[in-house]
Amino acid sequence: MTELVLRNVDVTYKMKKGDFKAVENINLEISKGKFICLIGRSGCGKTTTLHAIAGLNPVSNGEILLDNKTLKGPGADRGMVFQNDSVFPWLTVAQNVAFGLRMKGLKKSEIEPVVKHYLELVDLWQSRNLYPRELSGGMKKRVDLARSFANDPEILLMDEPFGSLDAMTKEALQVAILQLWGETHKTVIFITHDVEEALFLSEKTVVMEGPPGRIKNIMDIPFDYPRDVSLKLSPEFLKCRAKLMDQLIIK
Ligand SMILES: Nc1ncnc2c1ncn2[C@@H]1O[C@H](COP(=O)(O)OP(=O)(O)O)[C@@H](O)[C@H]1O
Ligand SMILES: [Mg+2]
Repeated sequence: MTELVLRNVDVTYKMKKGDFKAVENINLEISKGKFICLIGRSGCGKTTTLHAIAGLNPVSNGEILLDNKTLKGPGADRGMVFQNDSVFPWLTVAQNVAFGLRMKGLKKSEIEPVVKHYLELVDLWQSRNLYPRELSGGMKKRVDLARSFANDPEILLMDEPFGSLDAMTKEALQVAILQLWGETHKTVIFITHDVEEALFLSEKTVVMEGPPGRIKNIMDIPFDYPRDVSLKLSPEFLKCRAKLMDQLIIK
């Protein structure tokens, strides 16, 4: 069972004025296939933590292990999705999704069915020959999601991927990502500052506070999958929402 373990992790940025500890003593265990959200106010160290897992930030103390092996630097076992679109404007929808698979050296006959599968899942198969400039923001984000799942990493690291979308588009994307996750059961670590989004998507929500970034609480989200948007209106959901909001209030 692939497991991601963060053990006593500190991340310190070296500044001209001296060192700045952005994250302190993070301990977290995430087993394979879990959907985890990281939530906390701006500047509390969410991105720093995610980048440490991605291998983009060096860990100044402690260690991060994947399958009992200490992670050193970035790797194809971890895929990133950022808030801003990272689709290539000069490639079509289908070529964008195929890009990582081509880089891995897969044959055309191996790539085509994978691309079709993921584009169908995000409802973009009909739009496969369009270029990003011909797509809406939500469609571009779907391309991004399809591409990251198609690349088949062990872990997907997502930094507020839906942060810049309007509420309706965001909800549709939440449904799409749960569908992709339900199909693949990849481990997903998803940063959000949206309480509803964390509750709707995740099995566990990690509440962070800081700086320096620390884990304040880990909340188990008690709803079964598959989840439907109507869940957001249920009394149980609203109760959880109040509990999580309470965790986020700065006292
Ligand atoms: N590259 C960097 N160099 C120096 N300080 C940074 C850098 N990136 C982030 N920080 C600082 O570290 C803290 C945590 O930032 P970040 O992890 O981006 O928070 P979040 O994603 O929760 O908003 C903030 O105080 C921020 O100013
Ligand atoms: Mg951030």
